[in-house]
Amino acid sequence: MHNAAFAALGLNWRYLAFEVRPNNLAAAIAGARAMQFAGLNLTVPHKLLALELVDVLDESAKTWGAVNTIHFKPAGAGGELRAVGYNTDADAIASALREDLGLELGGAKVLLLGAGGAGRTAALRLAAGGVEELFLVNRTRSKADEIASEIKKRFPAVRTVAAYPQTAVDLVVNATSLGLKPGDPSPLDQKQFLLHQSRAVYDMIYNPAETALLQSAKAAGCRAANGLGMLLHQGAKAFEIWTGQTAPLDVMRRALEQNIYGH
Ligand code: ATR
Repeated sequence: MHNAAFAALGLNWRYLAFEVRPNNLAAAIAGARAMQFAGLNLTVPHKLLALELVDVLDESAKTWGAVNTIHFKPAGAGGELRAVGYNTDADAIASALREDLGLELGGAKVLLLGAGGAGRTAALRLAAGGVEELFLVNRTRSKADEIASEIKKRFPAVRTVAAYPQTAVDLVVNATSLGLKPGDPSPLDQKQFLLHQSRAVYDMIYNPAETALLQSAKAAGCRAANGLGMLLHQGAKAFEIWTGQTAPLDVMRRALEQNIYGH
């Protein structure tokens, strides 16, 4: 999506993927800076480690407690570059829910599955967006409890419960990795919650395009969307941070669809 966007804007830039071991992350960031890269994206397991490795944390990285984007910015007259860490994942959740499901967070009731890195960012962003009730469910219960306590402290107006809801909700979000592998079951325990009790379902997984959860969501008559919109919006925001130009969203979406789904 980035290379398509660079081409569309006539920028002689390239986006490349590198596999970096966690113990080499500091060296990789320093190397990219030395080579005067415009910036970097980071993914699992680097998003927390990078908090300690950049020179400056943007408000977004401070607020959401993870770095997925670095921008090397000139600092001072000597042409030195400073590594500034951002988080573009969190706002991408809100953008994707609005765009793909027509859902506004204010006053919503949400069941969130998963309490790993993606689950924590989603929970915090949903709370910051003013959801009324947040139900957190995770295979390892203690991690859902930890996030619930953090939200109670930071967003006391949000009713946060680390359990399945007993009533209907507006949205179910999957932030677990269950569904990535062929044959994976749905992360939702249908004995605890039936999908027809939700208006909409968002699965952060975008490949496969339709997980077992999304299939059941459609069968239950819910509005349903996969995680492609989140991938798009976190990328578009990073693109804007690096280039200072408006991201060509349609070009980027088409490139994603072409590369991931082949059509
Ligand atoms: P990410 O950065 O993508 O969130 P992660 O931090 O490793 O990755 O989190 C993975 C999430 O998927 C966790 O919520 C994990 O549950 P645990 O906290 O119990 O590990 C969840 N997950 C992974 N495999 C799962 C499975 N087979 N069943 C249920 N949940 C699973």
